Amino acid sequence: MRSHYCGQLNETLVDDQVTLCGWVHRRRDHGGVIFLDMRDRDGIAQVVVDPDTEEAFATADRARNEYVLRITGRVRPRPQGTENPNMPTGMIEVLAKQVEVLNSAATPPFQLDEHGKVGEEVRLKHRYIDLRRPEMIDKLRLRSRISHNVRAYLENQGFLDIETPILTRATPEGARDYLVPSRTHAGSFFALPQSPQLFKQLLMVSGFDRYYQIAKCFRDEDLRADRQPEFTQIDLEASFVEEDDIMGITESMIRGLFQEVLDVELPSFPRMPYSEAMSRFGSDKPDLRIPLELTDVDDLMAKVDFKVFSGPATAADGRVAALKVPGGAELSRKAIDEYTKFVGIYGAKGLAWIKVNERAKGLEGLQSPIVKFMENVIDDLLERLDAQDGDIIFFGADKARVVNEALGALRVKLGEDLDLYTQDWAPLWVVDFPMFEADDAGRLHALHHPFTAPSCSPDALKAEPASALSRAYDMVLNGTELGGGSIRIHDQAMQRTVFEVLGIGEAEAEEKFGFLLDALKYGAPPHGGLAFGLDRLVMLMTGAKTIREVIAFPKTQSASCLMTDAPGEVSPEQLKELNIRLRQKAKPETAGE
Ligand code: AMO
Ligand code: AMP
Repeated sequence: MRSHYCGQLNETLVDDQVTLCGWVHRRRDHGGVIFLDMRDRDGIAQVVVDPDTEEAFATADRARNEYVLRITGRVRPRPQGTENPNMPTGMIEVLAKQVEVLNSAATPPFQLDEHGKVGEEVRLKHRYIDLRRPEMIDKLRLRSRISHNVRAYLENQGFLDIETPILTRATPEGARDYLVPSRTHAGSFFALPQSPQLFKQLLMVSGFDRYYQIAKCFRDEDLRADRQPEFTQIDLEASFVEEDDIMGITESMIRGLFQEVLDVELPSFPRMPYSEAMSRFGSDKPDLRIPLELTDVDDLMAKVDFKVFSGPATAADGRVAALKVPGGAELSRKAIDEYTKFVGIYGAKGLAWIKVNERAKGLEGLQSPIVKFMENVIDDLLERLDAQDGDIIFFGADKARVVNEALGALRVKLGEDLDLYTQDWAPLWVVDFPMFEADDAGRLHALHHPFTAPSCSPDALKAEPASALSRAYDMVLNGTELGGGSIRIHDQAMQRTVFEVLGIGEAEAEEKFGFLLDALKYGAPPHGGLAFGLDRLVMLMTGAKTIREVIAFPKTQSASCLMTDAPGEVSPEQLKELNIRLRQKAKPETAGE
């Protein structure tokens, strides 16, 4: 129906006849002449409809925003003085000969260039209209380029694209499962995959050697800006490899991607042990664009007469850390109160601080609600932190987990608020993760997943599980965990040991993972891999604030789709067929009862 996309028109087409199909972005009536800004996925072109072309004029006259039109006309230069150099098609316009209405449109719930005035809910409810916005089209176009580039790279490296099932058994990745009832097996359920983890390992046992897939994953977990219940991984696995092989292949992939798609040369990827990341940045995904670090001050604070600090400083699981912010002495009381509230979200019970107004003046030159308690250590403290006039020093004292989360998040927030970034892109690898982490009840959980190989023998693992390290690696970019992976267990005895340490008994291991344990008996090669979050990658590469902005039809924070109204109720017949009886919903209490 069309000869060109609107956005393709330029001066080389002057005098050519073109046919455009698209939407009326804006219609302006300029005293007898009608201007139509015609929009399609490639851009916007200005169409002029003259009263001389009577029929076309009458049609254009009744067209409204978002009508779908087909327009044939001649390309001509815009009259001098009316060119718009900011627009790709701004040097030309189309003088219409024919205007045909392909479809009319009701007044949209929001004007495309006024989307900011309506809440995200309205945009998500009418997502098909929201997706007409050029910014949204650009993001999804870039997403398509990214997947294309990744596929091309991996195919070139000998990876085979193999699909794995969506209706399957639980694949533990630390979240709840989405379950699908089986009609043919009453009372039984499929789980949607949290990742293709087990299948890709089985493909290695089969000998495919190199596998990849752009795979949908499903996780029922608390949602945030960078988490969706349904998301996409760039998933890969290879045999006869070690850490350096997988890290090398994937680092080259990301480096090439940034080069080709964004024309960005990424800096080198340093490797940082997990313990160092936690101690210096309070996070296992540190944003290295921000030049602030946590400093341990336990030894000093053990000596102060302030229980809030000396307690955690001497407790085995406690930590007292300082975060120095150069120039931060200018922060107002109100700003500090706001930051105190902010760290409260992470469980911090307060946020002590010292402003260094004039260090040379000793205690006189300091301003702080706590300095009176630490006169005996203040010199050593300021020395250790290399405090300068104008600095503010924040403190966190609590269980190490709380201090790390609170000061780690504060560090990122200060970086953002005070615009402290030293570079645009800061990638790194985090390595040497612990195998397990303990919950508050002391039970061990796999830090990655239970198929990750430990760096030690089964005996050593059993003897001291809490201090065992794993052969896992995460790629982090600008404070976001882009991807994670590991060398896997390919030995049945080791896999059984890990299940045992996790408190998964033999019967349960057989029931849940018998197929994996079996496969490990039949000649499983050493193997490893990694998965990137495609949505997060696209979010970072497009500068979007949330992954919802780079997913065509995302879900809300409460895991629902406002457009289709999913999840929805189903009919009693369907439930019966699935052998499901719903529990009665609690009846609302009536007054007087
Ligand atoms: P992991 O659980 O670390 O590893 O997931 C890999 C990457 O997927 C992305 N991701 C998400 N993105 C959006 N929404 C979510 N809810 C979500 N959860 C995870 C992250 C993360 O880095 N099977 C292993 C990989 C492996 O070992 O090869 C796995 O799934 O960017
Ligand atoms: P208080 O003695 O409770 O008034 O606290 C004195 C200062 O210490 C205040 O600035 C509090 O915000 C701060 N504070 C209290 N508890 C903690 C904590 N666990 N970590 C860091 N600072 C704290």
